[in-house]
Amino acid sequence: MTLSTPKLAFIGVGNMASAIIGGLIANGYPADSITGTNRSEEKQQLWRDKFGIHTTHDNDLTVETADVVILAVKPQMMESVVSAMSPALQQRKPMLISLAAGPTVESLDQWAGGDMAIVRCMPNTPSMLQCGVAGLYANQKVSLEQKQQAEAILNAVGICRWLEAESGIDSIIAVAGSAPAYYYLFMEAMIESGKKLGFSHEDSTELAIQTALGAVRMAKETGTDVVELRRQVTSPGGTTAEAIRTFEEGGLRQLIDGAMHAAIKRSQELAKA
Ligand SMILES: NC(=O)c1ccc[n+]([C@@H]2O[C@H](COP(=O)([O-])OP(=O)(O)OC[C@H]3O[C@@H](n4cnc5c(N)ncnc54)[C@H](OP(=O)(O)O)[C@@H]3O)[C@@H](O)[C@H]2O)c1
Repeated sequence: MTLSTPKLAFIGVGNMASAIIGGLIANGYPADSITGTNRSEEKQQLWRDKFGIHTTHDNDLTVETADVVILAVKPQMMESVVSAMSPALQQRKPMLISLAAGPTVESLDQWAGGDMAIVRCMPNTPSMLQCGVAGLYANQKVSLEQKQQAEAILNAVGICRWLEAESGIDSIIAVAGSAPAYYYLFMEAMIESGKKLGFSHEDSTELAIQTALGAVRMAKETGTDVVELRRQVTSPGGTTAEAIRTFEEGGLRQLIDGAMHAAIKRSQELAKA
């Protein structure tokens, strides 16, 4: 990491926070500049042993010395956890990065006591393999330097993109947050078809995964446009052309578009609930 190393506080170290901490450590971020909090002593011990970071149960003490506070508890716990820390947050005014789906910047600011620099972040599960995609939205209080700090943190587990409006969080959920499941569904269907063609479950699974991996690596590593890559596999009058024609006539593109809009609608509904 080329930026100066701000002191990071992770409030709630579970699946997502530990993925980010793992990515940061793998990228050379000093463990000494990271503190993680959990209520249970077992988890505190686990992260101390695994990452060499500081751990504690004391959220207040942790944010008192932090430059960046990453809020990584479950969405339904966010209000009580942030409100309880608000006196400590108001003293130092660190940047807050919330990983939670749901709570808006306005709510988070209110719970934290007001006038805070806040980034809302929506990561996805492949962050656990440092292959994630995250959307970031910053309020007006976030400085350019703080934006760079937020980017550096999320870049440790994949790529990230800034969203101009908070509503972009719903869109990033549709295109990246929920999207790994779309690919899994496609693979699931291919595995089922493979089994009907006589392959064992294990073989069909391995063939589907390896084919997906090969296609993804071709798209990422050759830099060739995906339309061109598809053309390269699709000889006129050949087998792939027939399969693609079947997808197109079945309305695959409209289905994908419809699925993404359904995800956006649901995300909007959940934010209001
Ligand atoms: N996992 C994902 O794929 C994903 C994707 C996008 C966004 N997110 C968001 O990331 C956030 C975390 O999700 P997760 O899946 O990592 O959840 P998780 O595994 O349940 O982690 C939450 C952690 O918070 C700790 N915690 C609970 N209350 C606490 C408190 N008062 N003080 C300190 N620590 C506390 C829990 O440990 P103790 O019980 O020991 O305290 C737990 O380890 C959520 O808001 C979620 O919406 C997750």
